[in-house]
Parts: sequence; structure tokens; C-alpha cells
Amino acid sequence: MAGDCGKWVVMVTAQTPMNMSVIKYWGKRDETLILPVNDSISITLDPDHLCTTTTVAVSPTFDRDRMWLNGKEISLSGGRYQNCLREIRSRATDVEDDENGIKIAEKDWEKLHLHIASYNNFPTAAGLASSAAGFACLVFALAKLMNLKEDRSKLSTIARQGSGSACRSLHGGFVKWIMGKDEDGKDSLAVQLADEEHWDDLVIIIAVVSSRQKETSSSTGMRETVETSLLLKHRAKEVVPKRIPQMEEAIKNRDFASFAQLTCAESNQFHAVCLDTSPPIFYMNDTSRRIISIVENWNRYEGTPQVAYTFDAGPNAVLFARNRKTAILLLQRLLFYFPPDSFFGLNSYIVGDKSILKDAGIEGIKDVEGLPPPPEMKDSIPSQKYMGDVSYFICTRPGRGPVLLSDKTQALLNPQTGLPK
Ligand code: DP6
Repeated sequence: MAGDCGKWVVMVTAQTPMNMSVIKYWGKRDETLILPVNDSISITLDPDHLCTTTTVAVSPTFDRDRMWLNGKEISLSGGRYQNCLREIRSRATDVEDDENGIKIAEKDWEKLHLHIASYNNFPTAAGLASSAAGFACLVFALAKLMNLKEDRSKLSTIARQGSGSACRSLHGGFVKWIMGKDEDGKDSLAVQLADEEHWDDLVIIIAVVSSRQKETSSSTGMRETVETSLLLKHRAKEVVPKRIPQMEEAIKNRDFASFAQLTCAESNQFHAVCLDTSPPIFYMNDTSRRIISIVENWNRYEGTPQVAYTFDAGPNAVLFARNRKTAILLLQRLLFYFPPDSFFGLNSYIVGDKSILKDAGIEGIKDVEGLPPPPEMKDSIPSQKYMGDVSYFICTRPGRGPVLLSDKTQALLNPQTGLPK
């Protein structure tokens, strides 16, 4: 180790997106290595709207590994963090920072300690799984800091050991997590099917559904499903292996009708498998089911799918519109059924890419109040609306994979002390 009186701090900051699965991962065949019972496919979301930023730092002055999440110190003693840190350290190589005259030799990494600060650009309380972007960002940033030679798919095998779905956040666009066969998990990794430009017509609207209920964590839920559900065995053996190539074809050909049919069927089977668990697990609530009805009625009325829905381990709906024109019609419908509370207004009710709102001709509460009932309602216009059942909507699109942030002002740690800013 060489450097100015041993007082130096070297840091790297990275930004990593969240991903949303359209073929679901649910069930592990190995709990420690996090190896799944089936392949899964996801879409990476635009990091401008949903991402994790992580700064990692190393210095001879640090006396132990420490981590801060959204400004609060958290413990790194959990097995998942320890597994990721061990895997990364064992692959670290020499680092030379000529500008500052700092040299870290491969063997030094075992002795040096790390500071990690991570921040999500969306509220944790939204119940949007942040662990995927979080572990992916931790692994990506540390890999850069420690000069790992592994490519993104190899790095995904490390992120996978933090949280299964995290491996898919190492790539942008459309991503497949190959379950693999090896016992050591080396071949259980994420590959990119197509980048984010491939199908950039797609618009994604997330309804963050108000929920008072404490949900079963994914890890606990999937363990109980593996132990008790016969439907999961059938799904992993017979259903998913057929759907994976169909979904790959749908993505390759930008075939929205097939994509929508498979995405909705996958979401529904995942929740059926949860219900088939003993004791049963309920992630969707009345609002989730109402959103499903709105989409199903509209798709049936049009004769071809306009919108697809998917729900993870919580009540939030993730909706895919086939293009911008459809997204406008979708937003009008959603606002018709779930109007914003006039006290809070529209600005904090629709977040992310607000330009869709403008294109829909909706600039204020008055425009929402003037929305006509959707034509598919015909004579069954609801007597009530569901104000308050959705907390807010996020408008977004497919997005890029992890990037390094070279702008030093975006670092979350102080470059002198290595402590949170
Ligand atoms: C419902 O990746 O959160 O979102 O591997 O135990 O950390 P662990 O679980 P996690 O599970 C996500 C499950 C899901 C479906 C999916 O993302 O495919």
C-alpha cells in the first residue's frame, strides 16, 4: 500500500436501476446460494425514476466495514451482505491511482475496510422492492473500486447472493436470469436479451397502492411455497419452461399481444401459487383486483390487449402500455377511477415522466373531474370512485443498466473522512 501518510480515501459512486419481472422468480432450490427453481425474465426500469445510488470507499483509516442506507447506519453482519463482500474481495485485483499516488495491491484488499452509503430515489415505504437495485449497485460499485475483471453477467452471480432478483439489475433493457444447473451456482446468472432501445414504445405506469397490511417477505413467502405448494412444482417443471421461449419471442418481435397475455398469466399464476401455499399468502388487495378488472374489461372491449399488468410481493400494480397513445388512455382511466385528493393536487400524485399527463390534456384537478367514463363502461358506470386507494402513480419506461457517476458532487460519502455527507 502506498499513499500520502496512509490518510487517503478512494471512492467510487454508481447508479443501478430497479427491474420488474414479467416471468416470475418464486422459489429457491438453494437458500444460501440463492438458486431459483425456474428461469425468469424482467424489464429494467429507467433509473431517472427508480434507482439506487451507492458510494463505496476504502481507506487505511477505516477500522471496520460500515454501511448507511438512506442516511441511517445498518448492520452488515447478515449472511447475504457477508457472502457478497467475501465473493467480491476474493476477486479484487491491483488498483493504481496515479493521479493521487495511491497503490493498492491485490493482497491488501483482505485487510482493508470499506464504507458504503446507499440511497434510493423512491420512498422505501412505497413497498417497491429496493433490494434488487440495492444489491446490484453494491456489487457493481465494489467491482469498480476493487478493479474486478469479471463482466456484468459474472457479477450478476455475486449480486444474486444478496437478493435473487438483484442479478437482473446488472443489465439494462430486457433480461433473463438463467436458473443454471451447477451446484455451486456459477451458471445461475443474468443475460441481456435486448437493450432498452429495442422496444422503446413501451410505457410503464406503476400504481403505488395504499396498504396498511404488513406483507410476508419474499424470502419467507417463497420458502413456505416451496415447502407446501404442489402447484409450484407443476409451474417450475411444466409451465415456466414453455413460457420462457414464448416470452423471448414476444420481446424479440415486439409482439405486444403475446407479451401482454404471458405477463398477465404469469402474474396471476404467481399469486395463485401464493394462495396454494400453506398458510396461504395474500399480496394483492381490493385495489389491486380493481385495477386488474379495469385492464381486463378494457382489453376485452378493444379486442386486442392494450395494457398488461403484473404484481409482485405486494399490492402495487405495474402496468405496461403498448405505446404512448395507449398510455394516455390508460392514465385517463386510472385517474377517472382513482382521482387525486384535491388537497394534495396532481403534482405529487403523478411522478416520473409527467409529460404523459400533459399530452393527456390534464393540467389540474378540474381536468380530472371532467374526465368522461371510459366507453367500455357502457351502462355500468360506477356509483363511487376510489379516492385515496392509490397513493400515487409513477410513469416510466424501460431503462439502462448500471453506470458509474463520475461527477464527484454526486458521491454520498465525504472524500476526506469517508463518512456520509
Ligand atoms: C415476487 O429477489 O426479493 O419480486 O431472493 O429472497 O431476496 P430473495 O427474493 P427477491 O424475490 C423477488 C420475487 C418477486 C418476483 C421477481 O422479481 O421475479
